Amino acid sequence: MTQLTFTTERSSNLVSDIEREQILSDPGFGTTFTDHMVTATWTAEHGWHDAVVREFGPLQLSPAAAVLHYAQEIFEGMKAYRHEDGSVWTFRPEANAARMARSARRLALPELSEEDFIASLTALVQADEKWVPAYGTGETSLYLRPFMFASEAFLGVRPAREVTYSVIASPAGAYFKGGLKPVSLWVSQDYARAGDGGTGAAKCGGNYASSMAGQIEGADHGCDQAVFLDSATHTYIEELGGMNLFFVMKDGRLRTPALTGSILEGITRDSILTLAKDLDLEPVQERIEIQEWKDGVVSGEITEIFACGTAAVVTPVGELRWDGGSAPSGSPEGGGEVTRAIRSTLLDIQYGRATDTRGWMT
Ligand code: COI
Repeated sequence: MTQLTFTTERSSNLVSDIEREQILSDPGFGTTFTDHMVTATWTAEHGWHDAVVREFGPLQLSPAAAVLHYAQEIFEGMKAYRHEDGSVWTFRPEANAARMARSARRLALPELSEEDFIASLTALVQADEKWVPAYGTGETSLYLRPFMFASEAFLGVRPAREVTYSVIASPAGAYFKGGLKPVSLWVSQDYARAGDGGTGAAKCGGNYASSMAGQIEGADHGCDQAVFLDSATHTYIEELGGMNLFFVMKDGRLRTPALTGSILEGITRDSILTLAKDLDLEPVQERIEIQEWKDGVVSGEITEIFACGTAAVVTPVGELRWDGGSAPSGSPEGGGEVTRAIRSTLLDIQYGRATDTRGWMT
């Protein structure tokens, strides 16, 4: 049910056309932001109100704001794509809205309706439409980051009675500078990202914070990213912290770890499971042991491995390292045939090149 009307207060401090074009020519990831942002407030007394598109800038927050102490926070990640005819589209925003509502329930935050969620994105993209990179400029888009946090100044531990919702936007190029160069992974044996009954399936900041020690350990061992295992047995593959994993098998199966409650339900993951059938692959969601990875890349049972997510799209996975050993790359240089086919099928839908976009574009 729609509750909010987003009023736009145009910024009087716009980035110049020249500067914006400079940024858009090489946007990188997550370092520059558009002219505007969305904010809305929820209070236990009045529900959602004060929805506004306003100048991008610092938020005023009490040092006692509950989010700073108890991490009551959730977010989403999605992209706006420019099509060849100049129009601007988002990919499955209703799936992000549904996931944000699930995350909100897990973190005891108020839900925002799908209509209000999509209206907030539309309002921001309309105000900052010039920030959506031109069609044909590689893998560029406008990354949208909706987020919600406990802004009530209160140190007692209970769900906040005042919450802020915001959306910011950031022009984005490839998440990994190496493009299709396979990323090397470190098996995080000491650090788990999430546990049984925890918040692993929610998109909340705490999960990302808990992945960082494993990431640092991986970087210390020369790896690009870390892969996390289940916290109970340290046996089953979960995810990378910011990306889900897929294994292309010699027999035509496309395997991905089952959603056990401690893995993020990636929208790119879900889309790939749907697209797999068109590529004559048999999608399989099941628990996968880390030992199967180590053996499979040696025996040839596993022919390709890739990671996926909104930011990283589809990225080939290379060598696996752990304390005491390593396994060869799970992907040929530049990514295997299946990895590249899935990646281009997805990008063709997102950039409007596919004849059938499956009703996924809004
Ligand atoms: C995304 O892919 O959108 C993510 O949220 C991963 C990361 C950038 C946090």
